[in-house]
Amino acid sequence: MESVRTQVVIIGAGPAGLLLGHLLELEGVDTVIVETRSLDYVQQRVRAGVIEYGIANFLEASGVGTRMRAEGLVHHGIEFRLDGASHRIALSDLYDGRAITVYGQQEIVKDLIAARLTSGAPLFFDATVTAVVGHSTERPTVTVRTSDGDREVSGDYVIGCDGSHGVASASVPTGVLRRYERVYPFSWLGILAEAPPAAEELIYCRHPQGFALYSMRSPTLSRLYLGVRPDEVLDAWSDERIWDELTTRLASDQSASITQGPIIERGITPMRSVVVAPMRYGRLVLAGDAAHIVPPTGAKGLNLAISDVTVLAEALIDSYRSGNRSGLAEYSRTCLRRVWRAEHFSYWMTTMLHQLGEDPFDNQLQLSQLRYIVSSEAAARTLAENYVGLPLGHRAVAAD
Ligand code: APR
Ligand code: PHB
Repeated sequence: MESVRTQVVIIGAGPAGLLLGHLLELEGVDTVIVETRSLDYVQQRVRAGVIEYGIANFLEASGVGTRMRAEGLVHHGIEFRLDGASHRIALSDLYDGRAITVYGQQEIVKDLIAARLTSGAPLFFDATVTAVVGHSTERPTVTVRTSDGDREVSGDYVIGCDGSHGVASASVPTGVLRRYERVYPFSWLGILAEAPPAAEELIYCRHPQGFALYSMRSPTLSRLYLGVRPDEVLDAWSDERIWDELTTRLASDQSASITQGPIIERGITPMRSVVVAPMRYGRLVLAGDAAHIVPPTGAKGLNLAISDVTVLAEALIDSYRSGNRSGLAEYSRTCLRRVWRAEHFSYWMTTMLHQLGEDPFDNQLQLSQLRYIVSSEAAARTLAENYVGLPLGHRAVAAD
């Protein structure tokens, strides 16, 4: 890798950086993507796997949705389990026939990397951006550390798609970006198991012993989560303990118990909500997890990252084609409306399904909210619209 000049420098090869690179390449805008991790690491990293209706359509229309359409599982509903009883939320019936697609995030990453390798556009792994300078100049530049030494890559714009704790937002002078944050008093212990899912749809479960989620990746792979204390360590959770706890929390009179199998991946994820605003400083623009984090309840992280990129790609393409920079000027404001909607939804799902403390008043409020969702069509429709995803585009949340 030599020191180079390109049009758009992209830091990070997660879904945000890779999709942005793809959309810009389609329109003839040159990009360089720099990723600190290895190709293998990025392709194997297991994260949430629920794709909103509009996002799935967008991925297909952009030419990177073929495998998602063939292998993704289309779900028309989700289940809430409460006091051992199952309640189905008929997402598609409640929201104009729209459905979600269950397809692993790392599969999208693989598909985007395959598209990038086919196009031959520059994508560097094991290359760490250590500094961003010149934000307010015509030539913002990043320093990239590789095993061969340091290089500089400059462009018309630098896009920070470098995830939470990224170098991009940290390079902005103190006081320019505002950080909004909420930390929750629990984490999720997630496993991927070689076990055929016993349920056809996702199950979100509130149980006196804690939260549980039954999800899946394919007809042979289950993905399950347990709400655990924030200081919980993986070593304290043997396979047996994990399965026992899942079985207890997910128990129901109405359906078969969960199927067990070898656990092939496990991890503990803390739960946080973060928004960094504005999402732009001069010619440095932030997208995806670099600008916002949601707790995983509701699976909005990937969808938000992609929706940022749809707005940003259009704005950049407009500015290159016609010199019109209004899209870039509006980028942060446009994205933040959707971001805050998703922040609220994820917070709401999280606080409704997890025990936040011992306060009996809070406990009763939570239960009341959950019972309302599973018994009122109006309440369920609100959930369905947010879960399946509001339409993409600038007008979708214009009334906020
Ligand atoms: N230099 C180069 N690459 C970097 C640097 C750096 N200094 N710092 C971070 N990165 C890379 C990370 O290794 C990671 O691959 O940036 C990438 C950021 O990708 P993601 O974390 O996947 O973030 P994003 O693309 O915004 O996707 C958001 O992914 O984090 C999940 O659940 C989250 O669904 C959400 C989605
Ligand atoms: C997942 O399948 O990993 C998943 C599903 C739904 C969520 C979070 C994660 O809310």
